Amino acid sequence: MTAIGKPLVRRDGARKVTGTATYAYETPLDAPLFCHPVQATVARGRITAIHTADAEMLDGVLDVITYRTAERLASTEDAELAALQDREVAFRGQLVGLVLAESSESARHGAELVTVDYHEHAHDTELSADRDDLYRPEKVNPSFPTDTGTGDVDAAMAATDVTVEQTYRTAMYHNNPMEPHATTAWWDNDSLTLWDSTQGVHPSRTTVAKVFGLPEERVRVVCPFVGGGFGSKGLPHVNVVAAAMAARAHPGRPVKLALTRQQMFSLAGYRTPTIQKMRLGADSDGRLAAISLDVVEQTSRIKEFAEQTALPARMMYAAPNRRTTHRLAALDVPVPSWMRAPGECPGMFGPEVAMDELACELGIDPIELRVRNEPETDPDSGNPFSSRHLVECLREGARRFGWAGRDPRPGVRLEDGWLVGTGVAASVYPARTNPGSTANVRFDGGRYVVEIGAADLGTGAWTVLPQIAADALGVPVEEVDVRIGDTDYPKATVAGGSTGTATWGSAIVEAARTFRDKFGRDPGDGDEADATTGENPASERYAMYAFGAQFTEARVHADTGEIRVPRLLGVFAAGRIINPRTARSQFLGGMTMGLSMALHEDSVWDPRFGQVVNHDLAEYHVSVNADVDDVQAHWLDEQDDQVNPLGSKGIGEIGIVGTAASVVNAVFHATGARIRDLPVTLDKVL
Ligand code: MOS
Repeated sequence: MTAIGKPLVRRDGARKVTGTATYAYETPLDAPLFCHPVQATVARGRITAIHTADAEMLDGVLDVITYRTAERLASTEDAELAALQDREVAFRGQLVGLVLAESSESARHGAELVTVDYHEHAHDTELSADRDDLYRPEKVNPSFPTDTGTGDVDAAMAATDVTVEQTYRTAMYHNNPMEPHATTAWWDNDSLTLWDSTQGVHPSRTTVAKVFGLPEERVRVVCPFVGGGFGSKGLPHVNVVAAAMAARAHPGRPVKLALTRQQMFSLAGYRTPTIQKMRLGADSDGRLAAISLDVVEQTSRIKEFAEQTALPARMMYAAPNRRTTHRLAALDVPVPSWMRAPGECPGMFGPEVAMDELACELGIDPIELRVRNEPETDPDSGNPFSSRHLVECLREGARRFGWAGRDPRPGVRLEDGWLVGTGVAASVYPARTNPGSTANVRFDGGRYVVEIGAADLGTGAWTVLPQIAADALGVPVEEVDVRIGDTDYPKATVAGGSTGTATWGSAIVEAARTFRDKFGRDPGDGDEADATTGENPASERYAMYAFGAQFTEARVHADTGEIRVPRLLGVFAAGRIINPRTARSQFLGGMTMGLSMALHEDSVWDPRFGQVVNHDLAEYHVSVNADVDDVQAHWLDEQDDQVNPLGSKGIGEIGIVGTAASVVNAVFHATGARIRDLPVTLDKVL
């Protein structure tokens, strides 16, 4: 009756595809008001006047809230969340007003009629590596050392046989989940309920309670379904505060606020562009003497977010001389935040393309080069890896992909007018669990009920948590109900950092064990037990990561430069796989998003105005079905007893790590053009 390992279909699948799953904005409540944001039209300045009369006279409009009329928030410590608290504008698109109306159409129309006068200040929004005001953040997301170093990279580079010194760039990206950031807010006396599209109801509650100065018990956050997040819903953004603020101003009326796609480009987080100065030095056998990565990226002037881009370069390969740094420019731009595999995703682009360049310089197969530089222990911490099957992933991927006998020469295979090439890159993502997630297991009416405030943002939590509970209790999965997505359930940590299933699953396993210890195999109605995750003591002694290898076949049209990727193949070592169906979906989703990063996604920044000019899905291209042909995700059977009681590693993010490098390496093999700036577009290969 082992439920873990079965490819069970999503429990919420039918509701989602039949439109009966209720998302935050759709929460059925009587007489809702609709709220539409008004956004700043200058990149930096001070509001000198706001003209609201035309909007207020519009049929259906009830109210226009501005900094003059908004309630004073209890905490403005988080400047991103300090909605309408003063007249300063810190970036274009910042919230400067809220229009409340009886319909969403009236609210939006009203917002268009609000005009704002500004005293404009000069703005500065252009990232570059030679700015003289780059600064060293105290730590990088969330609390890693900013810089690391050992040995002498400069001396090693001077003394070694072969070097690669190149600068790589990743673009600005926006998360763009299908479901926009949306909230329904309702105040009942002094208690607030938010139906919010979030990756964590409890973390969201903590933040909102602080902003409004409420005890946490007076805030309830409900979120049964999420239409994607990719990190942008990991923490509440200003739209959540705005919805709550608007509802408080109109007692008795629930308020609905959904950001438009365009508004999400300035109000819901994004991934910083990165500039990666990469240096590799190796002897003629390909043994690395030096690895160095200096990262430059941006944050907003009002709130620091330092993406931890150099982290994977610290632990991937062995080299006696190593150095990593992060430097930031604080600009008049929207606040960057988490996006699928913050750190590892951009941070495996430069290094994994550089490894390919080094392999070419040396005339060594790129898989073999990586194998020769396998570290025995984590080069960063010195700890052993709890499990590290990167070499097996590379070998298994090579076998499945058909790598053997590859002609390493670039630009020599022409088939029907298309230049054909193949590439490889490695993937990595930390395997972590979070302390502070509680699960409750109860026997009720002949069934087992598990409650935990987890979130399913499309990852499959509704489906895999019952599998985990069923095995831990030793009962068929059909006898287990799991309830998630509500702060009324026990406190859970965020669905982020690929920690969700491992963390909540650990709490469930522990609670089930306690339940069995207390009540045996024949419990009575109402019997219950709970358990809370703690720190994993093994994380002090082991380096814990999932690994992968990604292979790409690229075809580039010799005349037009059109780039197609007919094949992507990934092999991952990610611990125990709870549900092969939902796991495959995670890997494929990550790889597809990585392909999208390689070829399409690019938030085009106009520094004259301080804004993304392609701020909708018509012009911000994401890979669609026609771009994605044969994508395969495979995995090794990996046993890891250190990571957590389940032996599972997170899988939500590793699929996007290394993918873009693999594509770039394949495009080089096809054409001989080495692209170091993402995305790879046809103008760059011609
Ligand atoms: Mo993920 S960016 O940690 O939600």
